[in-house]
Amino acid sequence: MCGIVGFTGTKEAAPILLSGLTKLEYRGYDSAGIAVIDSGTINMVKSPGKIVNLYNKTHNGSDLHGFTGIGHTRWATHGVPNEINAHPHMSEHGNIAIVHNGIIENYMELKEFLISQGVTFVSETDTEVVVQLLEYYYIQLKDLRDAIFKVLQVIEGAYALVILCKDYPDSFVVARKDAPLLLGFGDGCNFVASDATAIIEYTREVAYMEDGEVAFITKDNIDVYDSFGQPIEKEHHIIDWDISAAEKGGYAHFMFKEIMEQPEAIRKTMSPRIRDNRIVFDDLKIDKAFMEKVDRIYIVACGSSYHVGMVGKYNMERLLRVPVDPVLASEFRYSDPLVTENTLIIVISQSGETLDTMAALREAKKRGAHITSIVNVVGSSIARESDDVLYTWAGPEIAVATTKAYSTQLTLLNMLGLYFADMLHTVEESEYNKIVEEMQWLPEKIESILQNTDQIKYLASRYFNHNSIFFIGRNLDYALGMEGSLKLKEISYIHSEAYASGELKHGTISLIEKGTLVVALGTYGPLFDKAMSNVVEVRARGADVMAITTVSHADEMQKNVDFAVAVPDTHLILQPSLGIVPLQLFAYYVALQRGCDIDKPRNLAKSVTVE
Ligand code: M6R
Repeated sequence: MCGIVGFTGTKEAAPILLSGLTKLEYRGYDSAGIAVIDSGTINMVKSPGKIVNLYNKTHNGSDLHGFTGIGHTRWATHGVPNEINAHPHMSEHGNIAIVHNGIIENYMELKEFLISQGVTFVSETDTEVVVQLLEYYYIQLKDLRDAIFKVLQVIEGAYALVILCKDYPDSFVVARKDAPLLLGFGDGCNFVASDATAIIEYTREVAYMEDGEVAFITKDNIDVYDSFGQPIEKEHHIIDWDISAAEKGGYAHFMFKEIMEQPEAIRKTMSPRIRDNRIVFDDLKIDKAFMEKVDRIYIVACGSSYHVGMVGKYNMERLLRVPVDPVLASEFRYSDPLVTENTLIIVISQSGETLDTMAALREAKKRGAHITSIVNVVGSSIARESDDVLYTWAGPEIAVATTKAYSTQLTLLNMLGLYFADMLHTVEESEYNKIVEEMQWLPEKIESILQNTDQIKYLASRYFNHNSIFFIGRNLDYALGMEGSLKLKEISYIHSEAYASGELKHGTISLIEKGTLVVALGTYGPLFDKAMSNVVEVRARGADVMAITTVSHADEMQKNVDFAVAVPDTHLILQPSLGIVPLQLFAYYVALQRGCDIDKPRNLAKSVTVE
């Protein structure tokens, strides 16, 4: 969601900004723009639609000259995605241009004040208020630094801001509150970006901005100040993933590449945490004494990460016999949650920047809970604010629809549940051993599914024209159906819903008619027969049924459905890790048949940094 890049150095800024913005495309956006300072004038080019429009408008950046500039991809919140509302925004007298990620909550009040002072606005955005206010104070105070600190005292909401001032042609200023921003240290040049993908081509040395910090950036220096204006030293980190991890590497889409990377991603996530067939979390601060006191576990997340939490509920309750509640972060934060110091909060987030999840984390922390997070992006805000962070080692995930991050989150959550169960002796040793053994076979078993995609491809070509698709399943298969349905709808734009099979007869079955496609999940062995009864019910009403089941249940399933896709058997708590793969592939091939923009579905963003 909104991507930011800034550069100052001794090379032309525009091509660097355009290339950085292209790398940030995956975050989701609907307009884009860049601004570069040339001989004391800020020149801007903006456009609705894709970044290619900026390349075209500027002849690949060659029309804009200057060594310092800022760029932005905008995911519209206030005002439609047109050229005027696109960032950068320029102040009325052309002194200052800014790009902004986040939402200024008191923008109406500030706008009214500025209008009363004679300022004219051109856009519908909240961001323009910031740039006009900054110029207003700059003119009054005659000092950019003072004006910036003044503005930061006045604005409310979330922001990652990058500020260009025509009087300082060799520098820019950045400020952060509740929106991601990292500083990049180059050789004779420096950067700022929403995430490392934008700048890794130029530097691997970064520092993560914290809330309240302001940085003044020239080609040779980055001076960082806290919210009181005191200088601070930032810890430098080295990005250790390879640039090829953020490239398609011959695949048509990032999503397909990332589906294919799942075996390796799971191996990387799992193997450092299994020693002599025992699960180890060396760096976890939670000990047995704490776990013995825990009387409730909340798993807080959004979207697919929440679906991982749904699987976690079934598995952790089974293993630990403690109530486990998956809660949508956007609901949790406003629900006056029942959190005490005996509550364990597990936060799950691929990006580590999801605003709802971040806010829920803070709410729980305020109430005294211990926060353990499962995060993919190293150094992200959620990782930094948690008491414990467990990283999924999935590598950068670029496609908006998550696949490998989901799979690694699932692996890690199952490992955590089993680790706690071992600690509390709530799992039999033989069961523990069996699960750990089966876990280590997951990558191979997923590989075997990925080697045989023809059947799924065929099913996608058969069903891609459907308008509405239902996913049904019980217990873990219900959680699996939720994720399968989300994958399909987000990238193919087909209406889809997931139901607990037993719930169909309480209303939804009225929607089933001749030819409706139902994807029946039958991978959860203990309730296979019950699931079959529900399959029979929808078939009796004319539904086409495509099933996902296990090899051991395939024959039985095939008797009652149109098509049955079989995944290898594993321990039942791990079965969703296999069941999800054909569902990801189905969504992918359906979207491909429908000609959708698979990696960047409409209206969606990779990292959702607004409420
Ligand atoms: O980065 P997060 O895991 O916090 O993101 C949560 C959701 O926005 C995310 O899972 C979203 O639902 C994906 N697009 C699903 O594929």
